Amino acid sequence: MDLYEYQARDLFERHGVPVLGGVVAEDPAAAKAGAEKLGTPVVVVKAQVKTGGRGKAGGVKIAKSPEEAEQQASEILGMDIKGHTVHRVMIAAGADIAEEYYFSLLLDRANRNYLAMCSVEGGMEIEQLAVERPEALARVAVDPNVGIDAAKAKEIVEAANFDAETGAKIAPVLEKLWDVYKNEDATLVEVNPLVKTGAGDIVALDGKITIDENAGFRHEDHAALVDVASEDPLETKAKALDLNYVKLDGEVGIIGNGAGLVMSTLDVVAYAGESHGVKPANFLDIGGGASAEVMANGLDVILNDPQVAAVFVNVFGGITACDAVANGIVGALKKEGDAISKPLVVRLDGNNVEEGRKILADFAHPLVTQADTMDGGAAKVAELAAAGK
Ligand SMILES: Nc1ncnc2c1ncn2[C@@H]1O[C@H](COP(=O)(O)OP(=O)(O)OP(=O)(O)O)[C@@H](O)[C@H]1O
Ligand SMILES: [Mg+2]
Repeated sequence: MDLYEYQARDLFERHGVPVLGGVVAEDPAAAKAGAEKLGTPVVVVKAQVKTGGRGKAGGVKIAKSPEEAEQQASEILGMDIKGHTVHRVMIAAGADIAEEYYFSLLLDRANRNYLAMCSVEGGMEIEQLAVERPEALARVAVDPNVGIDAAKAKEIVEAANFDAETGAKIAPVLEKLWDVYKNEDATLVEVNPLVKTGAGDIVALDGKITIDENAGFRHEDHAALVDVASEDPLETKAKALDLNYVKLDGEVGIIGNGAGLVMSTLDVVAYAGESHGVKPANFLDIGGGASAEVMANGLDVILNDPQVAAVFVNVFGGITACDAVANGIVGALKKEGDAISKPLVVRLDGNNVEEGRKILADFAHPLVTQADTMDGGAAKVAELAAAGK
């Protein structure tokens, strides 16, 4: 889960990383009140969206009075930044910036390690710097068992070519940023820019944090960081039902058992759909158990996607035999009743396949078509989806 800048700011503050005051506002009047509350001669009005490049898109603006902050907020709120609508701004105390630096700490999957990246040249051009002059971006491996202690922090600032005095000020901040990374179970902590002010203080002016949701059980407070309003409502519903569901952008609903089988189903449907102009609408793995209830929940989520024109149920009977799966589908169809108005293609194979197919054939639901093979089912469902979209 990616956090908003204001959430990252709060976590930084909690772990002792130096930050400036910030107030979140959802309307211009609150932005004005926020600027008054901060009381600094200059504030910065910052779009809160989970994407980079806000400054370049006009989502970061300086205001020299609360009235100006109100005005800037009215321009930024509602703005579209790379497909993200701005619903909130953060009013941040204005910093007197002398220099801008870059720091990030992330999970380095390829090397099974953590990686710190640091540069004396931070700010909005960092992506360009990484491409054009990669040597200006220091890369230092961080042992997860040791983290960033005083020695590692010194190694990082030296690799990034900070002068001794600035390096000595930055190093303790890097240790605090390690505390954020470790104690919040993050997979990314990025500060861009990390600045030195005119007075010589080091401050984190912009933060990005990605939290590892698998560690959610260790962090009750992380649940409050989820922005339910901005999540896809179908994904929220699926999460509440404990389903492994990912919304995609097509017309063919997919249900299968086992992540591998569902992935291959997406591939064959994408392939079969090419000639019909349709694509998979989602990933949904109902797991090995595939009870009537899980099947009904899955169908419920998928059929509520207005983009879905047809559904492909592709199940391989393993530990749960095909007859049990077929009974699950029949139970789901009965439970859903009239709610089902879109055609379903069902392909069963594996353990007790004959019994399973017979159960569905005997049930003879008008919207259900059985397919013998995965490719045949994919072709059929693509055809039905194209006809129904
Ligand atoms: N509180 C502040 N005071 C003064 N200047 C600021 C402040 N916050 C940001 N800035 C200036 O605005 C620039 C862009 O801000 P910021 O880094 O927050 O957004 P961004 O880099 O465009 O967004 P993103 O990191 O999401 O791509 C900074 O490099 C800095 O020069
Ligand atoms: Mg930034």
